[in-house]
Amino acid sequence: MTVINSNVLESGHTALVTGASRGIGPLIAREVAKQGAHVVLTGRSASELAAVASALRTARLSVSTVPADLTQLDAARILVQTIEQQRGGIDLLVNNAGGDPQREFQSMTVDENLRIVHLNLLAPIALSHAVLSGMLDRGRGHIVNVSAIAGRIAFPHTEAYAAAKDGLIGFTRVLRSDYRGRGVSASVVILGAVRGAGQGQRTMDEMGLRTPPFMVSAEAVAKAVVRAVRRDRAELVLLPGPGRLLKAVMDIFPGFGPAINRASGSTKTMDNVMRVREAKRNAEVK
Ligand SMILES: NC(=O)c1ccc[n+]([C@@H]2O[C@H](COP(=O)([O-])OP(=O)(O)OC[C@H]3O[C@@H](n4cnc5c(N)ncnc54)[C@H](OP(=O)(O)O)[C@@H]3O)[C@@H](O)[C@H]2O)c1
Repeated sequence: MTVINSNVLESGHTALVTGASRGIGPLIAREVAKQGAHVVLTGRSASELAAVASALRTARLSVSTVPADLTQLDAARILVQTIEQQRGGIDLLVNNAGGDPQREFQSMTVDENLRIVHLNLLAPIALSHAVLSGMLDRGRGHIVNVSAIAGRIAFPHTEAYAAAKDGLIGFTRVLRSDYRGRGVSASVVILGAVRGAGQGQRTMDEMGLRTPPFMVSAEAVAKAVVRAVRRDRAELVLLPGPGRLLKAVMDIFPGFGPAINRASGSTKTMDNVMRVREAKRNAEVK
């Protein structure tokens, strides 16, 4: 298969990385900027973005920041328009912003559940839509979507998150198929639990748990994003061992998911996390 667009990572090109204020995002931004592209960092927190940008500039990397709340109406269009005016175009979009409040589906309101879908699925679709016209005009572009294995393994208490992340896999497949022939490709990076940075590690720290061996490093995720572009890969699965095989087995035998979650201790851990989250929530409400 022909590899297209690997040069979007190089000097003279602009990348937009969402969720770049904390967690895995700053590492993705660093890895992309190290390839030579200018990286625009976005997230809601202007001060955290400024701190990340300052650290990257110290490492002589070319970055700038544009804060945005991607769950706001029209945020994607305004963000892309702002960057296109500043930089002349976006050549690489990394839809990394996402996450889950780690609360029980039924204990959240329907609006709280829908907000999870907004952040993890609707915002990446809106951003992809906003960058696509410019990419097609220039005949080059790549969109990398950061998804999760949660839906495939029925990871406990992630109903809306899993729906969004599985949706993102389908969205990426069709986007890639429809636009690759016109110079714009798309890849999805499907993550298991990540150690070293991000929500999974924060939860382990909060619960006082040791990092289990099946977590992949945040640095490996950042490198995988670059690899997805360089090699124009449709899907990369980041799980220890034969990740793609494990994902395929889960698709053929979906009943294995809960059993694996129980055996790995994830069910017990996540039940405890739900209790902690609800206790915090009740304390806030009082
Ligand atoms: N960490 C893991 O174990 C793991 C596993 C599987 C998949 N993933 C996926 O990997 C990606 C990164 O996760 P992470 O662990 O690094 O998450 P994180 O540490 O919680 O960081 C989330 C990022 O998203 C941004 N964000 C959150 N809400 C936003 C909003 N409304 N508008 C704009 N930006 C928003 C946050 O910035 P602000 O707060 O400044 O807005 C932050 O930069 C996510 O898509 C996640 O689903 C992570």
